[in-house]
Amino acid sequence: MADTGTDTWWRGAAIYQVYLRSFADGNGDGIGDLAGLRARLPYLAELGVDAIWLNPWYPSPMADGGYDVADYRAIDPSFGDLAEAEAYIEEAHALGIRTIIDIVPNHGSDQQDWFVQALAAGPGSAERERFLFCDGREGGLPPNDWQSIFNGPAWTQVADGQWYLHLFAPEQPDFNWRNPEVVEEFHAILRFWLDRGVDGIRIDSAAVLFKDLDCVEESYTDHDDVHEVYRGWRRITDEYEGRFLVGEMWMPDQERFALYLRPDEMQTAFNFDFLSRSWDAAELRASIDLTLTTHVPIGAPPTWVLSNHDVTRPVTKYGRPDTSFSHQDRKHGMQTDPVLGERRARAAALLAMALPGGLYVYQGEELGLPEVEDLPDHLLQDPLWVRSGGTDRGRDGCRVPIPWSGKEPPFGFGAGTPWLPQPADWKNLTVESQQADQNSMLALYRDGLKLRRTHLGDGTLTWMDSAEGVLAFTRESLTCITNLTAGAMNLPPHTEVLLTSAPLEEGKLPTDTTAWLR
Ligand code: GLC
Ligand code: CA
Repeated sequence: MADTGTDTWWRGAAIYQVYLRSFADGNGDGIGDLAGLRARLPYLAELGVDAIWLNPWYPSPMADGGYDVADYRAIDPSFGDLAEAEAYIEEAHALGIRTIIDIVPNHGSDQQDWFVQALAAGPGSAERERFLFCDGREGGLPPNDWQSIFNGPAWTQVADGQWYLHLFAPEQPDFNWRNPEVVEEFHAILRFWLDRGVDGIRIDSAAVLFKDLDCVEESYTDHDDVHEVYRGWRRITDEYEGRFLVGEMWMPDQERFALYLRPDEMQTAFNFDFLSRSWDAAELRASIDLTLTTHVPIGAPPTWVLSNHDVTRPVTKYGRPDTSFSHQDRKHGMQTDPVLGERRARAAALLAMALPGGLYVYQGEELGLPEVEDLPDHLLQDPLWVRSGGTDRGRDGCRVPIPWSGKEPPFGFGAGTPWLPQPADWKNLTVESQQADQNSMLALYRDGLKLRRTHLGDGTLTWMDSAEGVLAFTRESLTCITNLTAGAMNLPPHTEVLLTSAPLEEGKLPTDTTAWLR
């Protein structure tokens, strides 16, 4: 396991993702905040995580849940203030928990000073050069036909006739990364937060910073020029002890992906291949092998992600007839079997915890929260929903506030009405009720994380011979077996069972179950 005293602690770390506005509300306004998080730090220490990754906490009009950043050097007043953020970082450190913050380099907010100045200064100004403003084509058409990732054209026209590019919502204007001022500004922002003690930087939408605007095709991901940006970021983080970068790149091509993990670029990146695959032994094995062959030879630790604030909750996903995931097909409204889903989510969690490298756990994953698929339309906020004309219900269903205690909403989230309603039947999913139950999802995560810390480090794995439909490998002192066949299977003789995701049946490992053996 990561030695927290060295500068590469992140190689095998278990990192817990806090979506601040849905974690815990300290002041009763229905929105999670730093006061709420500080009060719940002991819970995270007991859960056994090494670090917290916080989604953007900056002042934001919240057109995209904080990914529309209006000021990169401050905290949104609904979350707290800078002094409180510093107090939180220190308090977490005292409990042995490090902090990773989210930096959003591709785009800012239309409410940010820079953008307001760019609008005022007009075409041809240095202020406009910080963004991607262009003249349109004849006939009132935008500069090209690119579509935004959040639906609709990727261009919005301003009063003087020019258009600006936004790969996401119109409230998120893209920066011009060919402008040295932008490069320098982000260097200063990195230093601002590293100086305040943050231990890591999550780089949002890391592959899309550079675009060739005269391209007819939407070729805006993974431009070669982006690597120089991360070399610069790496030089800065290397000036500080024990800090690291983790990139968010949704890229199908693993060889291109690995380029971001070269020794002078990011140390780590989220591995989304694993969460995209269906619940099938050959699929998962292929994903694990692919991940290891991309990472191990270049010395980068793999990461394992079962969920985050952008994807369907595992319990719901794994209960569906089609268990794969893709952003293009979020499968809203597809029928799901929650019992089967939970069983598989438990097995997947123990499997992911046994794999070499870093682990990310998204808040509520450890409680087995399902996707909330029946949120009332008028409460949905995700721009994916707002801009889809009702065809995509978006990502709010995995962002519902955490149930902490009690028998009815708001389940101890805070004194006020949560910004998204919690299902009334979450009373058995609260932290309080799961803490009292040794067989709960929470107990599985706590036990797994503890054992993982004792037995496992970064490194690699050795596959064992096994029947079709079974994943079996050894890691240091531990053997991990996941049974994805339709029936129960025998365990190897003379082994001590350390942990299972479901009880053994007459000494056999049942279907959709993972066991850790010694
Ligand atoms: C990343 C974030 C997502 C956000 C998008 C635009 O994918 O994870 O939540 O909407 O970037 O910033
Ligand atoms: Ca609050």
